[in-house]
Amino acid sequence: MRILYLGDIVGEKTIEVLRQNLDAIKAENKINLVLVNAENVTQGKGLSEKHYKQLKQLGIAGMSMGNHTFSKSEIKNYINDATIARPANLGTSYGKDILYIQYNDKRIAVVNMLGRVYTYTPLDDPFKTMDKLLDRIDADYILVDFHGDATSEKKAFFFSFAGKVDAILGSHTHTQTADEQVFDNTCFITDMGMCGVFDSILGDDKDMVIQRFKTGMFEPLKCATGNEYMLNGVILDFGLKNTITRFNKKYILNEK
Ligand SMILES: [Fe+2]
Ligand SMILES: [Fe+2]
Repeated sequence: MRILYLGDIVGEKTIEVLRQNLDAIKAENKINLVLVNAENVTQGKGLSEKHYKQLKQLGIAGMSMGNHTFSKSEIKNYINDATIARPANLGTSYGKDILYIQYNDKRIAVVNMLGRVYTYTPLDDPFKTMDKLLDRIDADYILVDFHGDATSEKKAFFFSFAGKVDAILGSHTHTQTADEQVFDNTCFITDMGMCGVFDSILGDDKDMVIQRFKTGMFEPLKCATGNEYMLNGVILDFGLKNTITRFNKKYILNEK
């Protein structure tokens, strides 16, 4: 089974880039299933129902989130019925801590976990949470999107759960790392990177981010504009021997 997992999608215009290119990417790479991190889709923070539905129309099988899961409150109205894995170590009953996806005779479990280092939010221990989830998960393949800032925390999580799940994929930094590896048949990358405007700072307007650093004034950021986009993620091939390959390509958005 070949899965394309795309890192944080930044801005709703990126949905159009996916609409224009995803079929070709799937055909070229013989992809069976597409999963994405969708925490930054709507104006860069959160996921509106409209944009959730647009991603579903493109055939995205499942979505994981992150620290911006509830940045658009309307997600509370639809998340319970959505193919979304919300961070499992949040103290809420909204949404699913295990998202099951059926593909032919295979059952895939997607788990989203938030890191605690540098994230400043009261979260349950991701390691203990994962231990408990593993007691409950009943699936052929298990994927974890570990959404965190600290590279060491992600790697510690990887070596703690290698051999117990099929993939542990980092997200949140929006910067793809070059350390993909497989250990004990568990695929890993510290960060998948992001999908958004290339000429940006992590998908946001670079002048606004520079102003933040220079002045300390934290005005709300806007997503970057431009027509050159990058799509970052990984291609996983699950079988007897699991493999992971980085995906990193640029696309020009064709404005209608
Ligand atoms: Fe993000
Ligand atoms: Fe994030």
